Amino acid sequence: MSQPRVELKARKVKFDLSDSPVHWLPGDVFSSHLINGIHLLLPAGELWFCRVYNKALPHISDPQLKEEVKGFIRQEGAHAQAHRHGEAWLREHGYNVDDYLGRVNWLFETLLNDMPLNKSWLMPKQMEKQWLIMRVGIVAAIEHFTGLLGDWCLNSNGWDSGDAVVADLFRWHLAEEVEHRTVAFDLYEHLCANNASFYLSRQAIMALVFPLFIYFITESARSLAGQDSHADGKRIARSSVLRLLFELEKVGRKKDNVPTFSFLVERTLRWLSPRFHPITEGNTQQALDYIDRSPAAQAIG
Ligand SMILES: [Fe+2]
Ligand SMILES: [Fe+2]
Repeated sequence: MSQPRVELKARKVKFDLSDSPVHWLPGDVFSSHLINGIHLLLPAGELWFCRVYNKALPHISDPQLKEEVKGFIRQEGAHAQAHRHGEAWLREHGYNVDDYLGRVNWLFETLLNDMPLNKSWLMPKQMEKQWLIMRVGIVAAIEHFTGLLGDWCLNSNGWDSGDAVVADLFRWHLAEEVEHRTVAFDLYEHLCANNASFYLSRQAIMALVFPLFIYFITESARSLAGQDSHADGKRIARSSVLRLLFELEKVGRKKDNVPTFSFLVERTLRWLSPRFHPITEGNTQQALDYIDRSPAAQAIG
């Protein structure tokens, strides 16, 4: 399938969440909080993407890839801003998000910063470029998930019954993830010394990123649900990660409000192929079509 090549740009969008309920998927507290957690995880993560990519720019020798990386940085910056509104919306509804955000910020700002854990002995000068390339690889692995979530959401109807503004915010973001899904992977390949190191290191990175992604997504749902007054929220907060993954499978099959766990596993296993490339993991035209009709983009004109 041929995919249109597009110039990546940050689009002006506007979301008014003032009338949107936190349980924005009717009768589905689990999926509402699982998706709401993205408001908390992504701003710090996407701003970290931007910092890492700004450092990588001088190392890019392919002019077209360089332009794509600049467009990627602009889009991720806009996504982080939109989700900051989501974070404020959760706070306005009385949710305390500080503990969870503390863990997310530690991951991106302390563990994964230019000097890990702020310890200079952990980062000798001669290792700086390798550490930068490894972090570019981590971005590529995370982008595999944002891209496949985008592909899932553009092909599911579950959110049609949810709050229109919240659904549009996530769909607009995830459609742009589909639009720029190849950039992180291409940049990582471009910076790796050879094909063998590219293949082996991207497998090792995914082995770390997949469990971390599951941990952070389920933890955000648990921490938000635990602050609900009704029994369903308390039950979710007490559930183990394994139990939440069973629930993800069950709810995903029944309601299509979230992707199933088996979908996440199956799409992650594709990453193992030496021939894997994210271009086949979504449909660019479908993403552009959604962006064109997104109410948030139309509100700006
Ligand atoms: Fe994003
Ligand atoms: Fe992205």
